[in-house]
Amino acid sequence: MDPVTNPFSPGAGAPPPELVGRQDTLERAQVLLSRVIQGRAAKSILMTGLRGVGKTVLLNEIKRRAANSGYRVILIETPEQSGLLSHLTPQIRGLLLELDRIASASARVRRALGVLKSFASAVRVGYSGLELGLDLDAEPGVADSGDLENDLADLFVNVAEAAKDRRTGVAVLIDELQYISELELRSLTMAMHRLAQEQLPMVLVGAGLPTLPGLAGKARSYAERLFDFPSIGALTRAEADLAVEGPMKAARVQIEKAALSEIFRETRGYPYFLQEWAYQTWNRAERSPVTVAAVRAATSIVTARLDEGFFRVRFDRLTRAERRYLRAMADVSPEERTTGRVAEILGFKVTSMGPTRANLINKGMVYSPEHGRIDFTVPLFDEFMRRTMPSL
Ligand SMILES: Nc1ncnc2c1ncn2[C@@H]1O[C@H](COP(=O)(O)OP(=O)(O)OP(=O)(O)O)[C@@H](O)[C@H]1O
Ligand SMILES: [Mg+2]
Repeated sequence: MDPVTNPFSPGAGAPPPELVGRQDTLERAQVLLSRVIQGRAAKSILMTGLRGVGKTVLLNEIKRRAANSGYRVILIETPEQSGLLSHLTPQIRGLLLELDRIASASARVRRALGVLKSFASAVRVGYSGLELGLDLDAEPGVADSGDLENDLADLFVNVAEAAKDRRTGVAVLIDELQYISELELRSLTMAMHRLAQEQLPMVLVGAGLPTLPGLAGKARSYAERLFDFPSIGALTRAEADLAVEGPMKAARVQIEKAALSEIFRETRGYPYFLQEWAYQTWNRAERSPVTVAAVRAATSIVTARLDEGFFRVRFDRLTRAERRYLRAMADVSPEERTTGRVAEILGFKVTSMGPTRANLINKGMVYSPEHGRIDFTVPLFDEFMRRTMPSL
């Protein structure tokens, strides 16, 4: 059928024609936004899920809702290497300058700008006070101790006070949160703790792989009280059917049940793959109703494209040892994927595989669903590994 009218969204981060099966998470986010801006307590949200389940799409939808609920929004993607703060400080600067431009001068907003200046020079995030280009004095003694846990909390409190003074709230949305350092995560947690204590209008919504760095001690008990951790997974069969059938119906195209079954069998309900399969199936189909033959024709195209793109770019970043580790993982079923079993296949002791495993976790390729277990963060990567490396 005509590719020009194809309703599906291939590629990461593209809004799907229908955002299926995420009502609970979106409602939870809406309750959070509505409560906090009224000065009521609510848990912030940290979503975790595998590659391609729709975390970025959800963050963008929450961003839209936050703006509609009266928030100023900061959306950042944690860089893999350079740390969160290098992205956060310029955004906070932009937000404060925006608040500063609204109507009459506000001492609160000016103060928050001064605090940002102190903060930036104290934590030295490659963003010194001078580079901030702020024509005002720093606030000595606030957010400039050099201890990130205290300083970030000071900064957030001052930013939230400035927002409150302007009768607005601040929503900080952070993507790829698995790349945050432990110190940064601990500091964010402490900052959210202070905001909650002072009932200030600032919320945090994060999204990342299920490899979020571990929190220990006091930060952990705070995190449990401050955050909800919804896990975002594959769609159920009924939801997946809706994601494919809905946009087709809207375009007056029918699809056979057998074709829907085949799409689900290939994609296991993972949103990224659903969009890819639905997109290619549409292009392959000659007419309505779409048949299982169109899906099969799409399968070979999608598989080739994924192998050259989506899977390949990840594979290319790996060392030989890391590839062998993943290949060994692909030899065991998900239920039996333990670090012990993988080491055994490779003929090593578990302990000597530790560094390889840690590198794969840092690269966002694998995660540990529970102690001693290991799995892929990219759905269907096991099948790709078997295709691309037929043997160990
Ligand atoms: N609820 C949904 N229903 C249908 N399609 C969806 C849904 N959520 C996301 N998608 C589609 O899935 C694809 C991947 O979404 P997205 O990029 O948000 O995933 P992600 O979890 O952020 O992945 P990554 O971890 O790789 O960043 C996009 O093409 C999007 O249109
Ligand atoms: Mg994403």
